[in-house]
Amino acid sequence: MSALAVQSLYKIFGNRADEAVRRLADGAPRAEALAGLPATAAVIDATFEVRPGEIFVVMGLSGSGKSTLIRTLNGLLRPTSGSVRVDGVELTSLKPAALRKLRRDKISMVFQHFALMPHRTVAENAGYALEVAGRPKAERRERAMEALRMVGLTEWADHLPHDLSGGMRQRVGLARALAAGTDILLMDEAFSALDPLIRREIQDQLLELQAELGKTIIFITHDLNEAMRLGDRIAVMRDGRIVQIGTAEEILTDPANGYVAQFVADVDRTRILTAASVMEKPHQVLDVSAGPRVAAKALRETQTSVVYVTGPGKRFLGTVTEDEVLRALRENRTTLDGYVSTEVRTVTEDTSVADLFADCAESRHPVAVLDDRGRLAGVIPRITLLSALASATPDEPAEPASAEPADVALVAGKETPA
Ligand SMILES: Nc1ncnc2c1ncn2[C@@H]1O[C@H](COP(=O)(O)OP(=O)(O)OP(=O)(O)O)[C@@H](O)[C@H]1O
Ligand SMILES: [Mg+2]
Repeated sequence: MSALAVQSLYKIFGNRADEAVRRLADGAPRAEALAGLPATAAVIDATFEVRPGEIFVVMGLSGSGKSTLIRTLNGLLRPTSGSVRVDGVELTSLKPAALRKLRRDKISMVFQHFALMPHRTVAENAGYALEVAGRPKAERRERAMEALRMVGLTEWADHLPHDLSGGMRQRVGLARALAAGTDILLMDEAFSALDPLIRREIQDQLLELQAELGKTIIFITHDLNEAMRLGDRIAVMRDGRIVQIGTAEEILTDPANGYVAQFVADVDRTRILTAASVMEKPHQVLDVSAGPRVAAKALRETQTSVVYVTGPGKRFLGTVTEDEVLRALRENRTTLDGYVSTEVRTVTEDTSVADLFADCAESRHPVAVLDDRGRLAGVIPRITLLSALASATPDEPAEPASAEPADVALVAGKETPA
């Protein structure tokens, strides 16, 4: 079951909201659809599900409806129409007391400017949600201290907030949410006010916590790199509508429309694209039981200087070079066993392209990409990496005609009947 499910959700501010929903339902742009109506459409027809343990990022420019959307997820705002379910419970069906209880037990929120209470210690601030929930003092202290440990603030527990830097205060905000012990965290631009380096640090910390605790996190940001770094999936919002939902890689490589493409134009693709997305099918893969004659034929046919060799269960063993094939032939061997070199670099499918550079540069032969069972999934020749990077760089001016494409064009010209 999904941790959170949103179906055909609309949030209209102002008057004649139902009329606004009717006009927007057929997909018309919001400015056009609402012309003449005293209404603002903040969220239009949003549908998505968030899986337990997922970091689901909502990204979009200012005014695109992110904060409104997140506030409907914990019932702070009531949808104009549509449904929000948390652990299968429909929020719109809950009475105010039940809604408050659900907020307390299941959902915590962290904002951009987290308001700490200045006359209470860091630990008291961290345990505040538990105080509101009426938990005894000893338990509050214990859970607050545990949460402060998780965000690296143990030593600051008995300080007052004004002793802390901005980044540390934001971590107290996070600790408060963690101490509350809810499964779902809603984070609205929680790191946006921080300096870039501090911000990176706290992002890493969130990812570590997530790996440890498996919280379900809805994270709002207008920063694309942050979205790509944190999000298991990302929803891109524009003018109240969700225009695409996908992994960082899907959004980069297959943007739903020109708007998304432009939005992601500046992102550092080498950190998002993985070995799996640039690798090629290896030309020659032989089982280690194959003879050197077969290997020699394979090398001739593919005009390459190396074959990739696998063993039992198709596990990757290494490569055999031209020279070694010749040696095996001279030595009258019937298999490649004993001629396999493990010198070739190997990487896993999820290695980022940025981390491939060194391996590709230092490897004489195409780098081998292995799947999680150690089987050869593909190879990455240096030239493939370079061209993947070139095509991943958006908005490049058209390349001046190089020798190669010109030749191709000539051949094509010849073949065209005049
Ligand atoms: N309480 C409200 N009353 C009327 N209009 C509102 C209200 N809250 C938000 N809006 C409008 O709804 C739209 C979406 O606002 P929202 O705050 O959700 O955007 P956002 O994506 O969070 O923007 P930002 O990045 O600036 O925080 C905006 O046009 C905003 O002016
Ligand atoms: Mg906002």
